[in-house]
Amino acid sequence: MNPSDVVQQGSRKQLINGVEIAYEDHGSGPAVVLLHGYPFNRSLWRDQVSALRDDFRVIVPDLRGHGESAVTSGTATMEAMANDVAALLDLLDISQATIGGLSMGGYVALAFSRLFPARVQSLVLAATRAQADTDEAKQNRAVQAEKARTEGMKGIADMMLPKLLIPETVAKRPEVVKHVRGMMASTNPEGAAAALQGMALRQDQTSFLPQIKAPTLILVGREDVITPVADSELMHREISGSQLRVIENAGHVVNLERPEEFNRALSEFLRKGERVRGK
Ligand code: MLT
Repeated sequence: MNPSDVVQQGSRKQLINGVEIAYEDHGSGPAVVLLHGYPFNRSLWRDQVSALRDDFRVIVPDLRGHGESAVTSGTATMEAMANDVAALLDLLDISQATIGGLSMGGYVALAFSRLFPARVQSLVLAATRAQADTDEAKQNRAVQAEKARTEGMKGIADMMLPKLLIPETVAKRPEVVKHVRGMMASTNPEGAAAALQGMALRQDQTSFLPQIKAPTLILVGREDVITPVADSELMHREISGSQLRVIENAGHVVNLERPEEFNRALSEFLRKGERVRGK
C-alpha cells in the first residue's frame, strides 16, 4: 500500500496536489464520482452509495477544506477542487467516470467537464447552476466567510438549514435535519471560508454548456430556493440531449429529502448509459 493511502474509519486518504484528500471507494464496475455541496462532506451521498455500489464503483471524496480532507488557507477555487478530483482518478487508475455533483459539487463537476472533457463519461448536475454569483451574492459570501472565521459554523448552520430543506422535512424528519446540521456544524470554518471565496470567484459557465457532449442528467427539488428549478431549466436548454428531472416535495438537498426518487432517476440514467455503450 502506498504510504499516503491510509485507511481511516472506512475512508482512505491520499496526498493530492499537496493536500490530504479523504475519500471512500465502494464496489466495482463503471466509475461514478459524487461531489458534495457546501458546507457538507461525503456522507451526503450515503444513500446513493448504498443504491449504486452493487453495480458501480462509487467514489465519494471530501472536497478540500471539508470532512476529513485537509484545509487549505485562502481560496479554494472550483478549478482547484476539479484538479483534486482528476488527480484522485489518476491515483485510482480511472481514466473516465460519471462525474456528479450537488450544488457546489455541481460547480466543481462543471469545472471538471470544462478542464477534462475526455474524462467525463456522463455528467450529473443536482441542485446546481451554471451562472456565476451576482455582486450581492459575492458580498454575502464575504460576510459569511468572516462569520465562519470569527464565530464558527453553528450560526451558519442555523441560518442555512431552513433554506436547504422544505418545512415538512424540518418538522417531521429529525434524522435528515440532524444529518444536514451535523455536516455543516462539523465543517472546519477555515475550509468553509475558503470554499465561499472560491464560489464567489467562480466563472459563469453558461456559455460552456452547449459544448458539453457527455450524456447529462439534471436533477432539482421543486421547492429548491438556493438553486431554483429555473437554473436547471436553463442548463437543460443549453446542454443538448440532457434530461431534466424535477423532484416533488424536495428542497435543495434533494438527494437526502427524496432518496428513492433521486436514486431511481440516477440508476436509470446510469444503467441506460451502460446499455447504450453495450456493456
Ligand atoms: C451548496 O449547497 O453547495 C451551496 O449552497 C451552493 C451555493 O452557496 O451557491
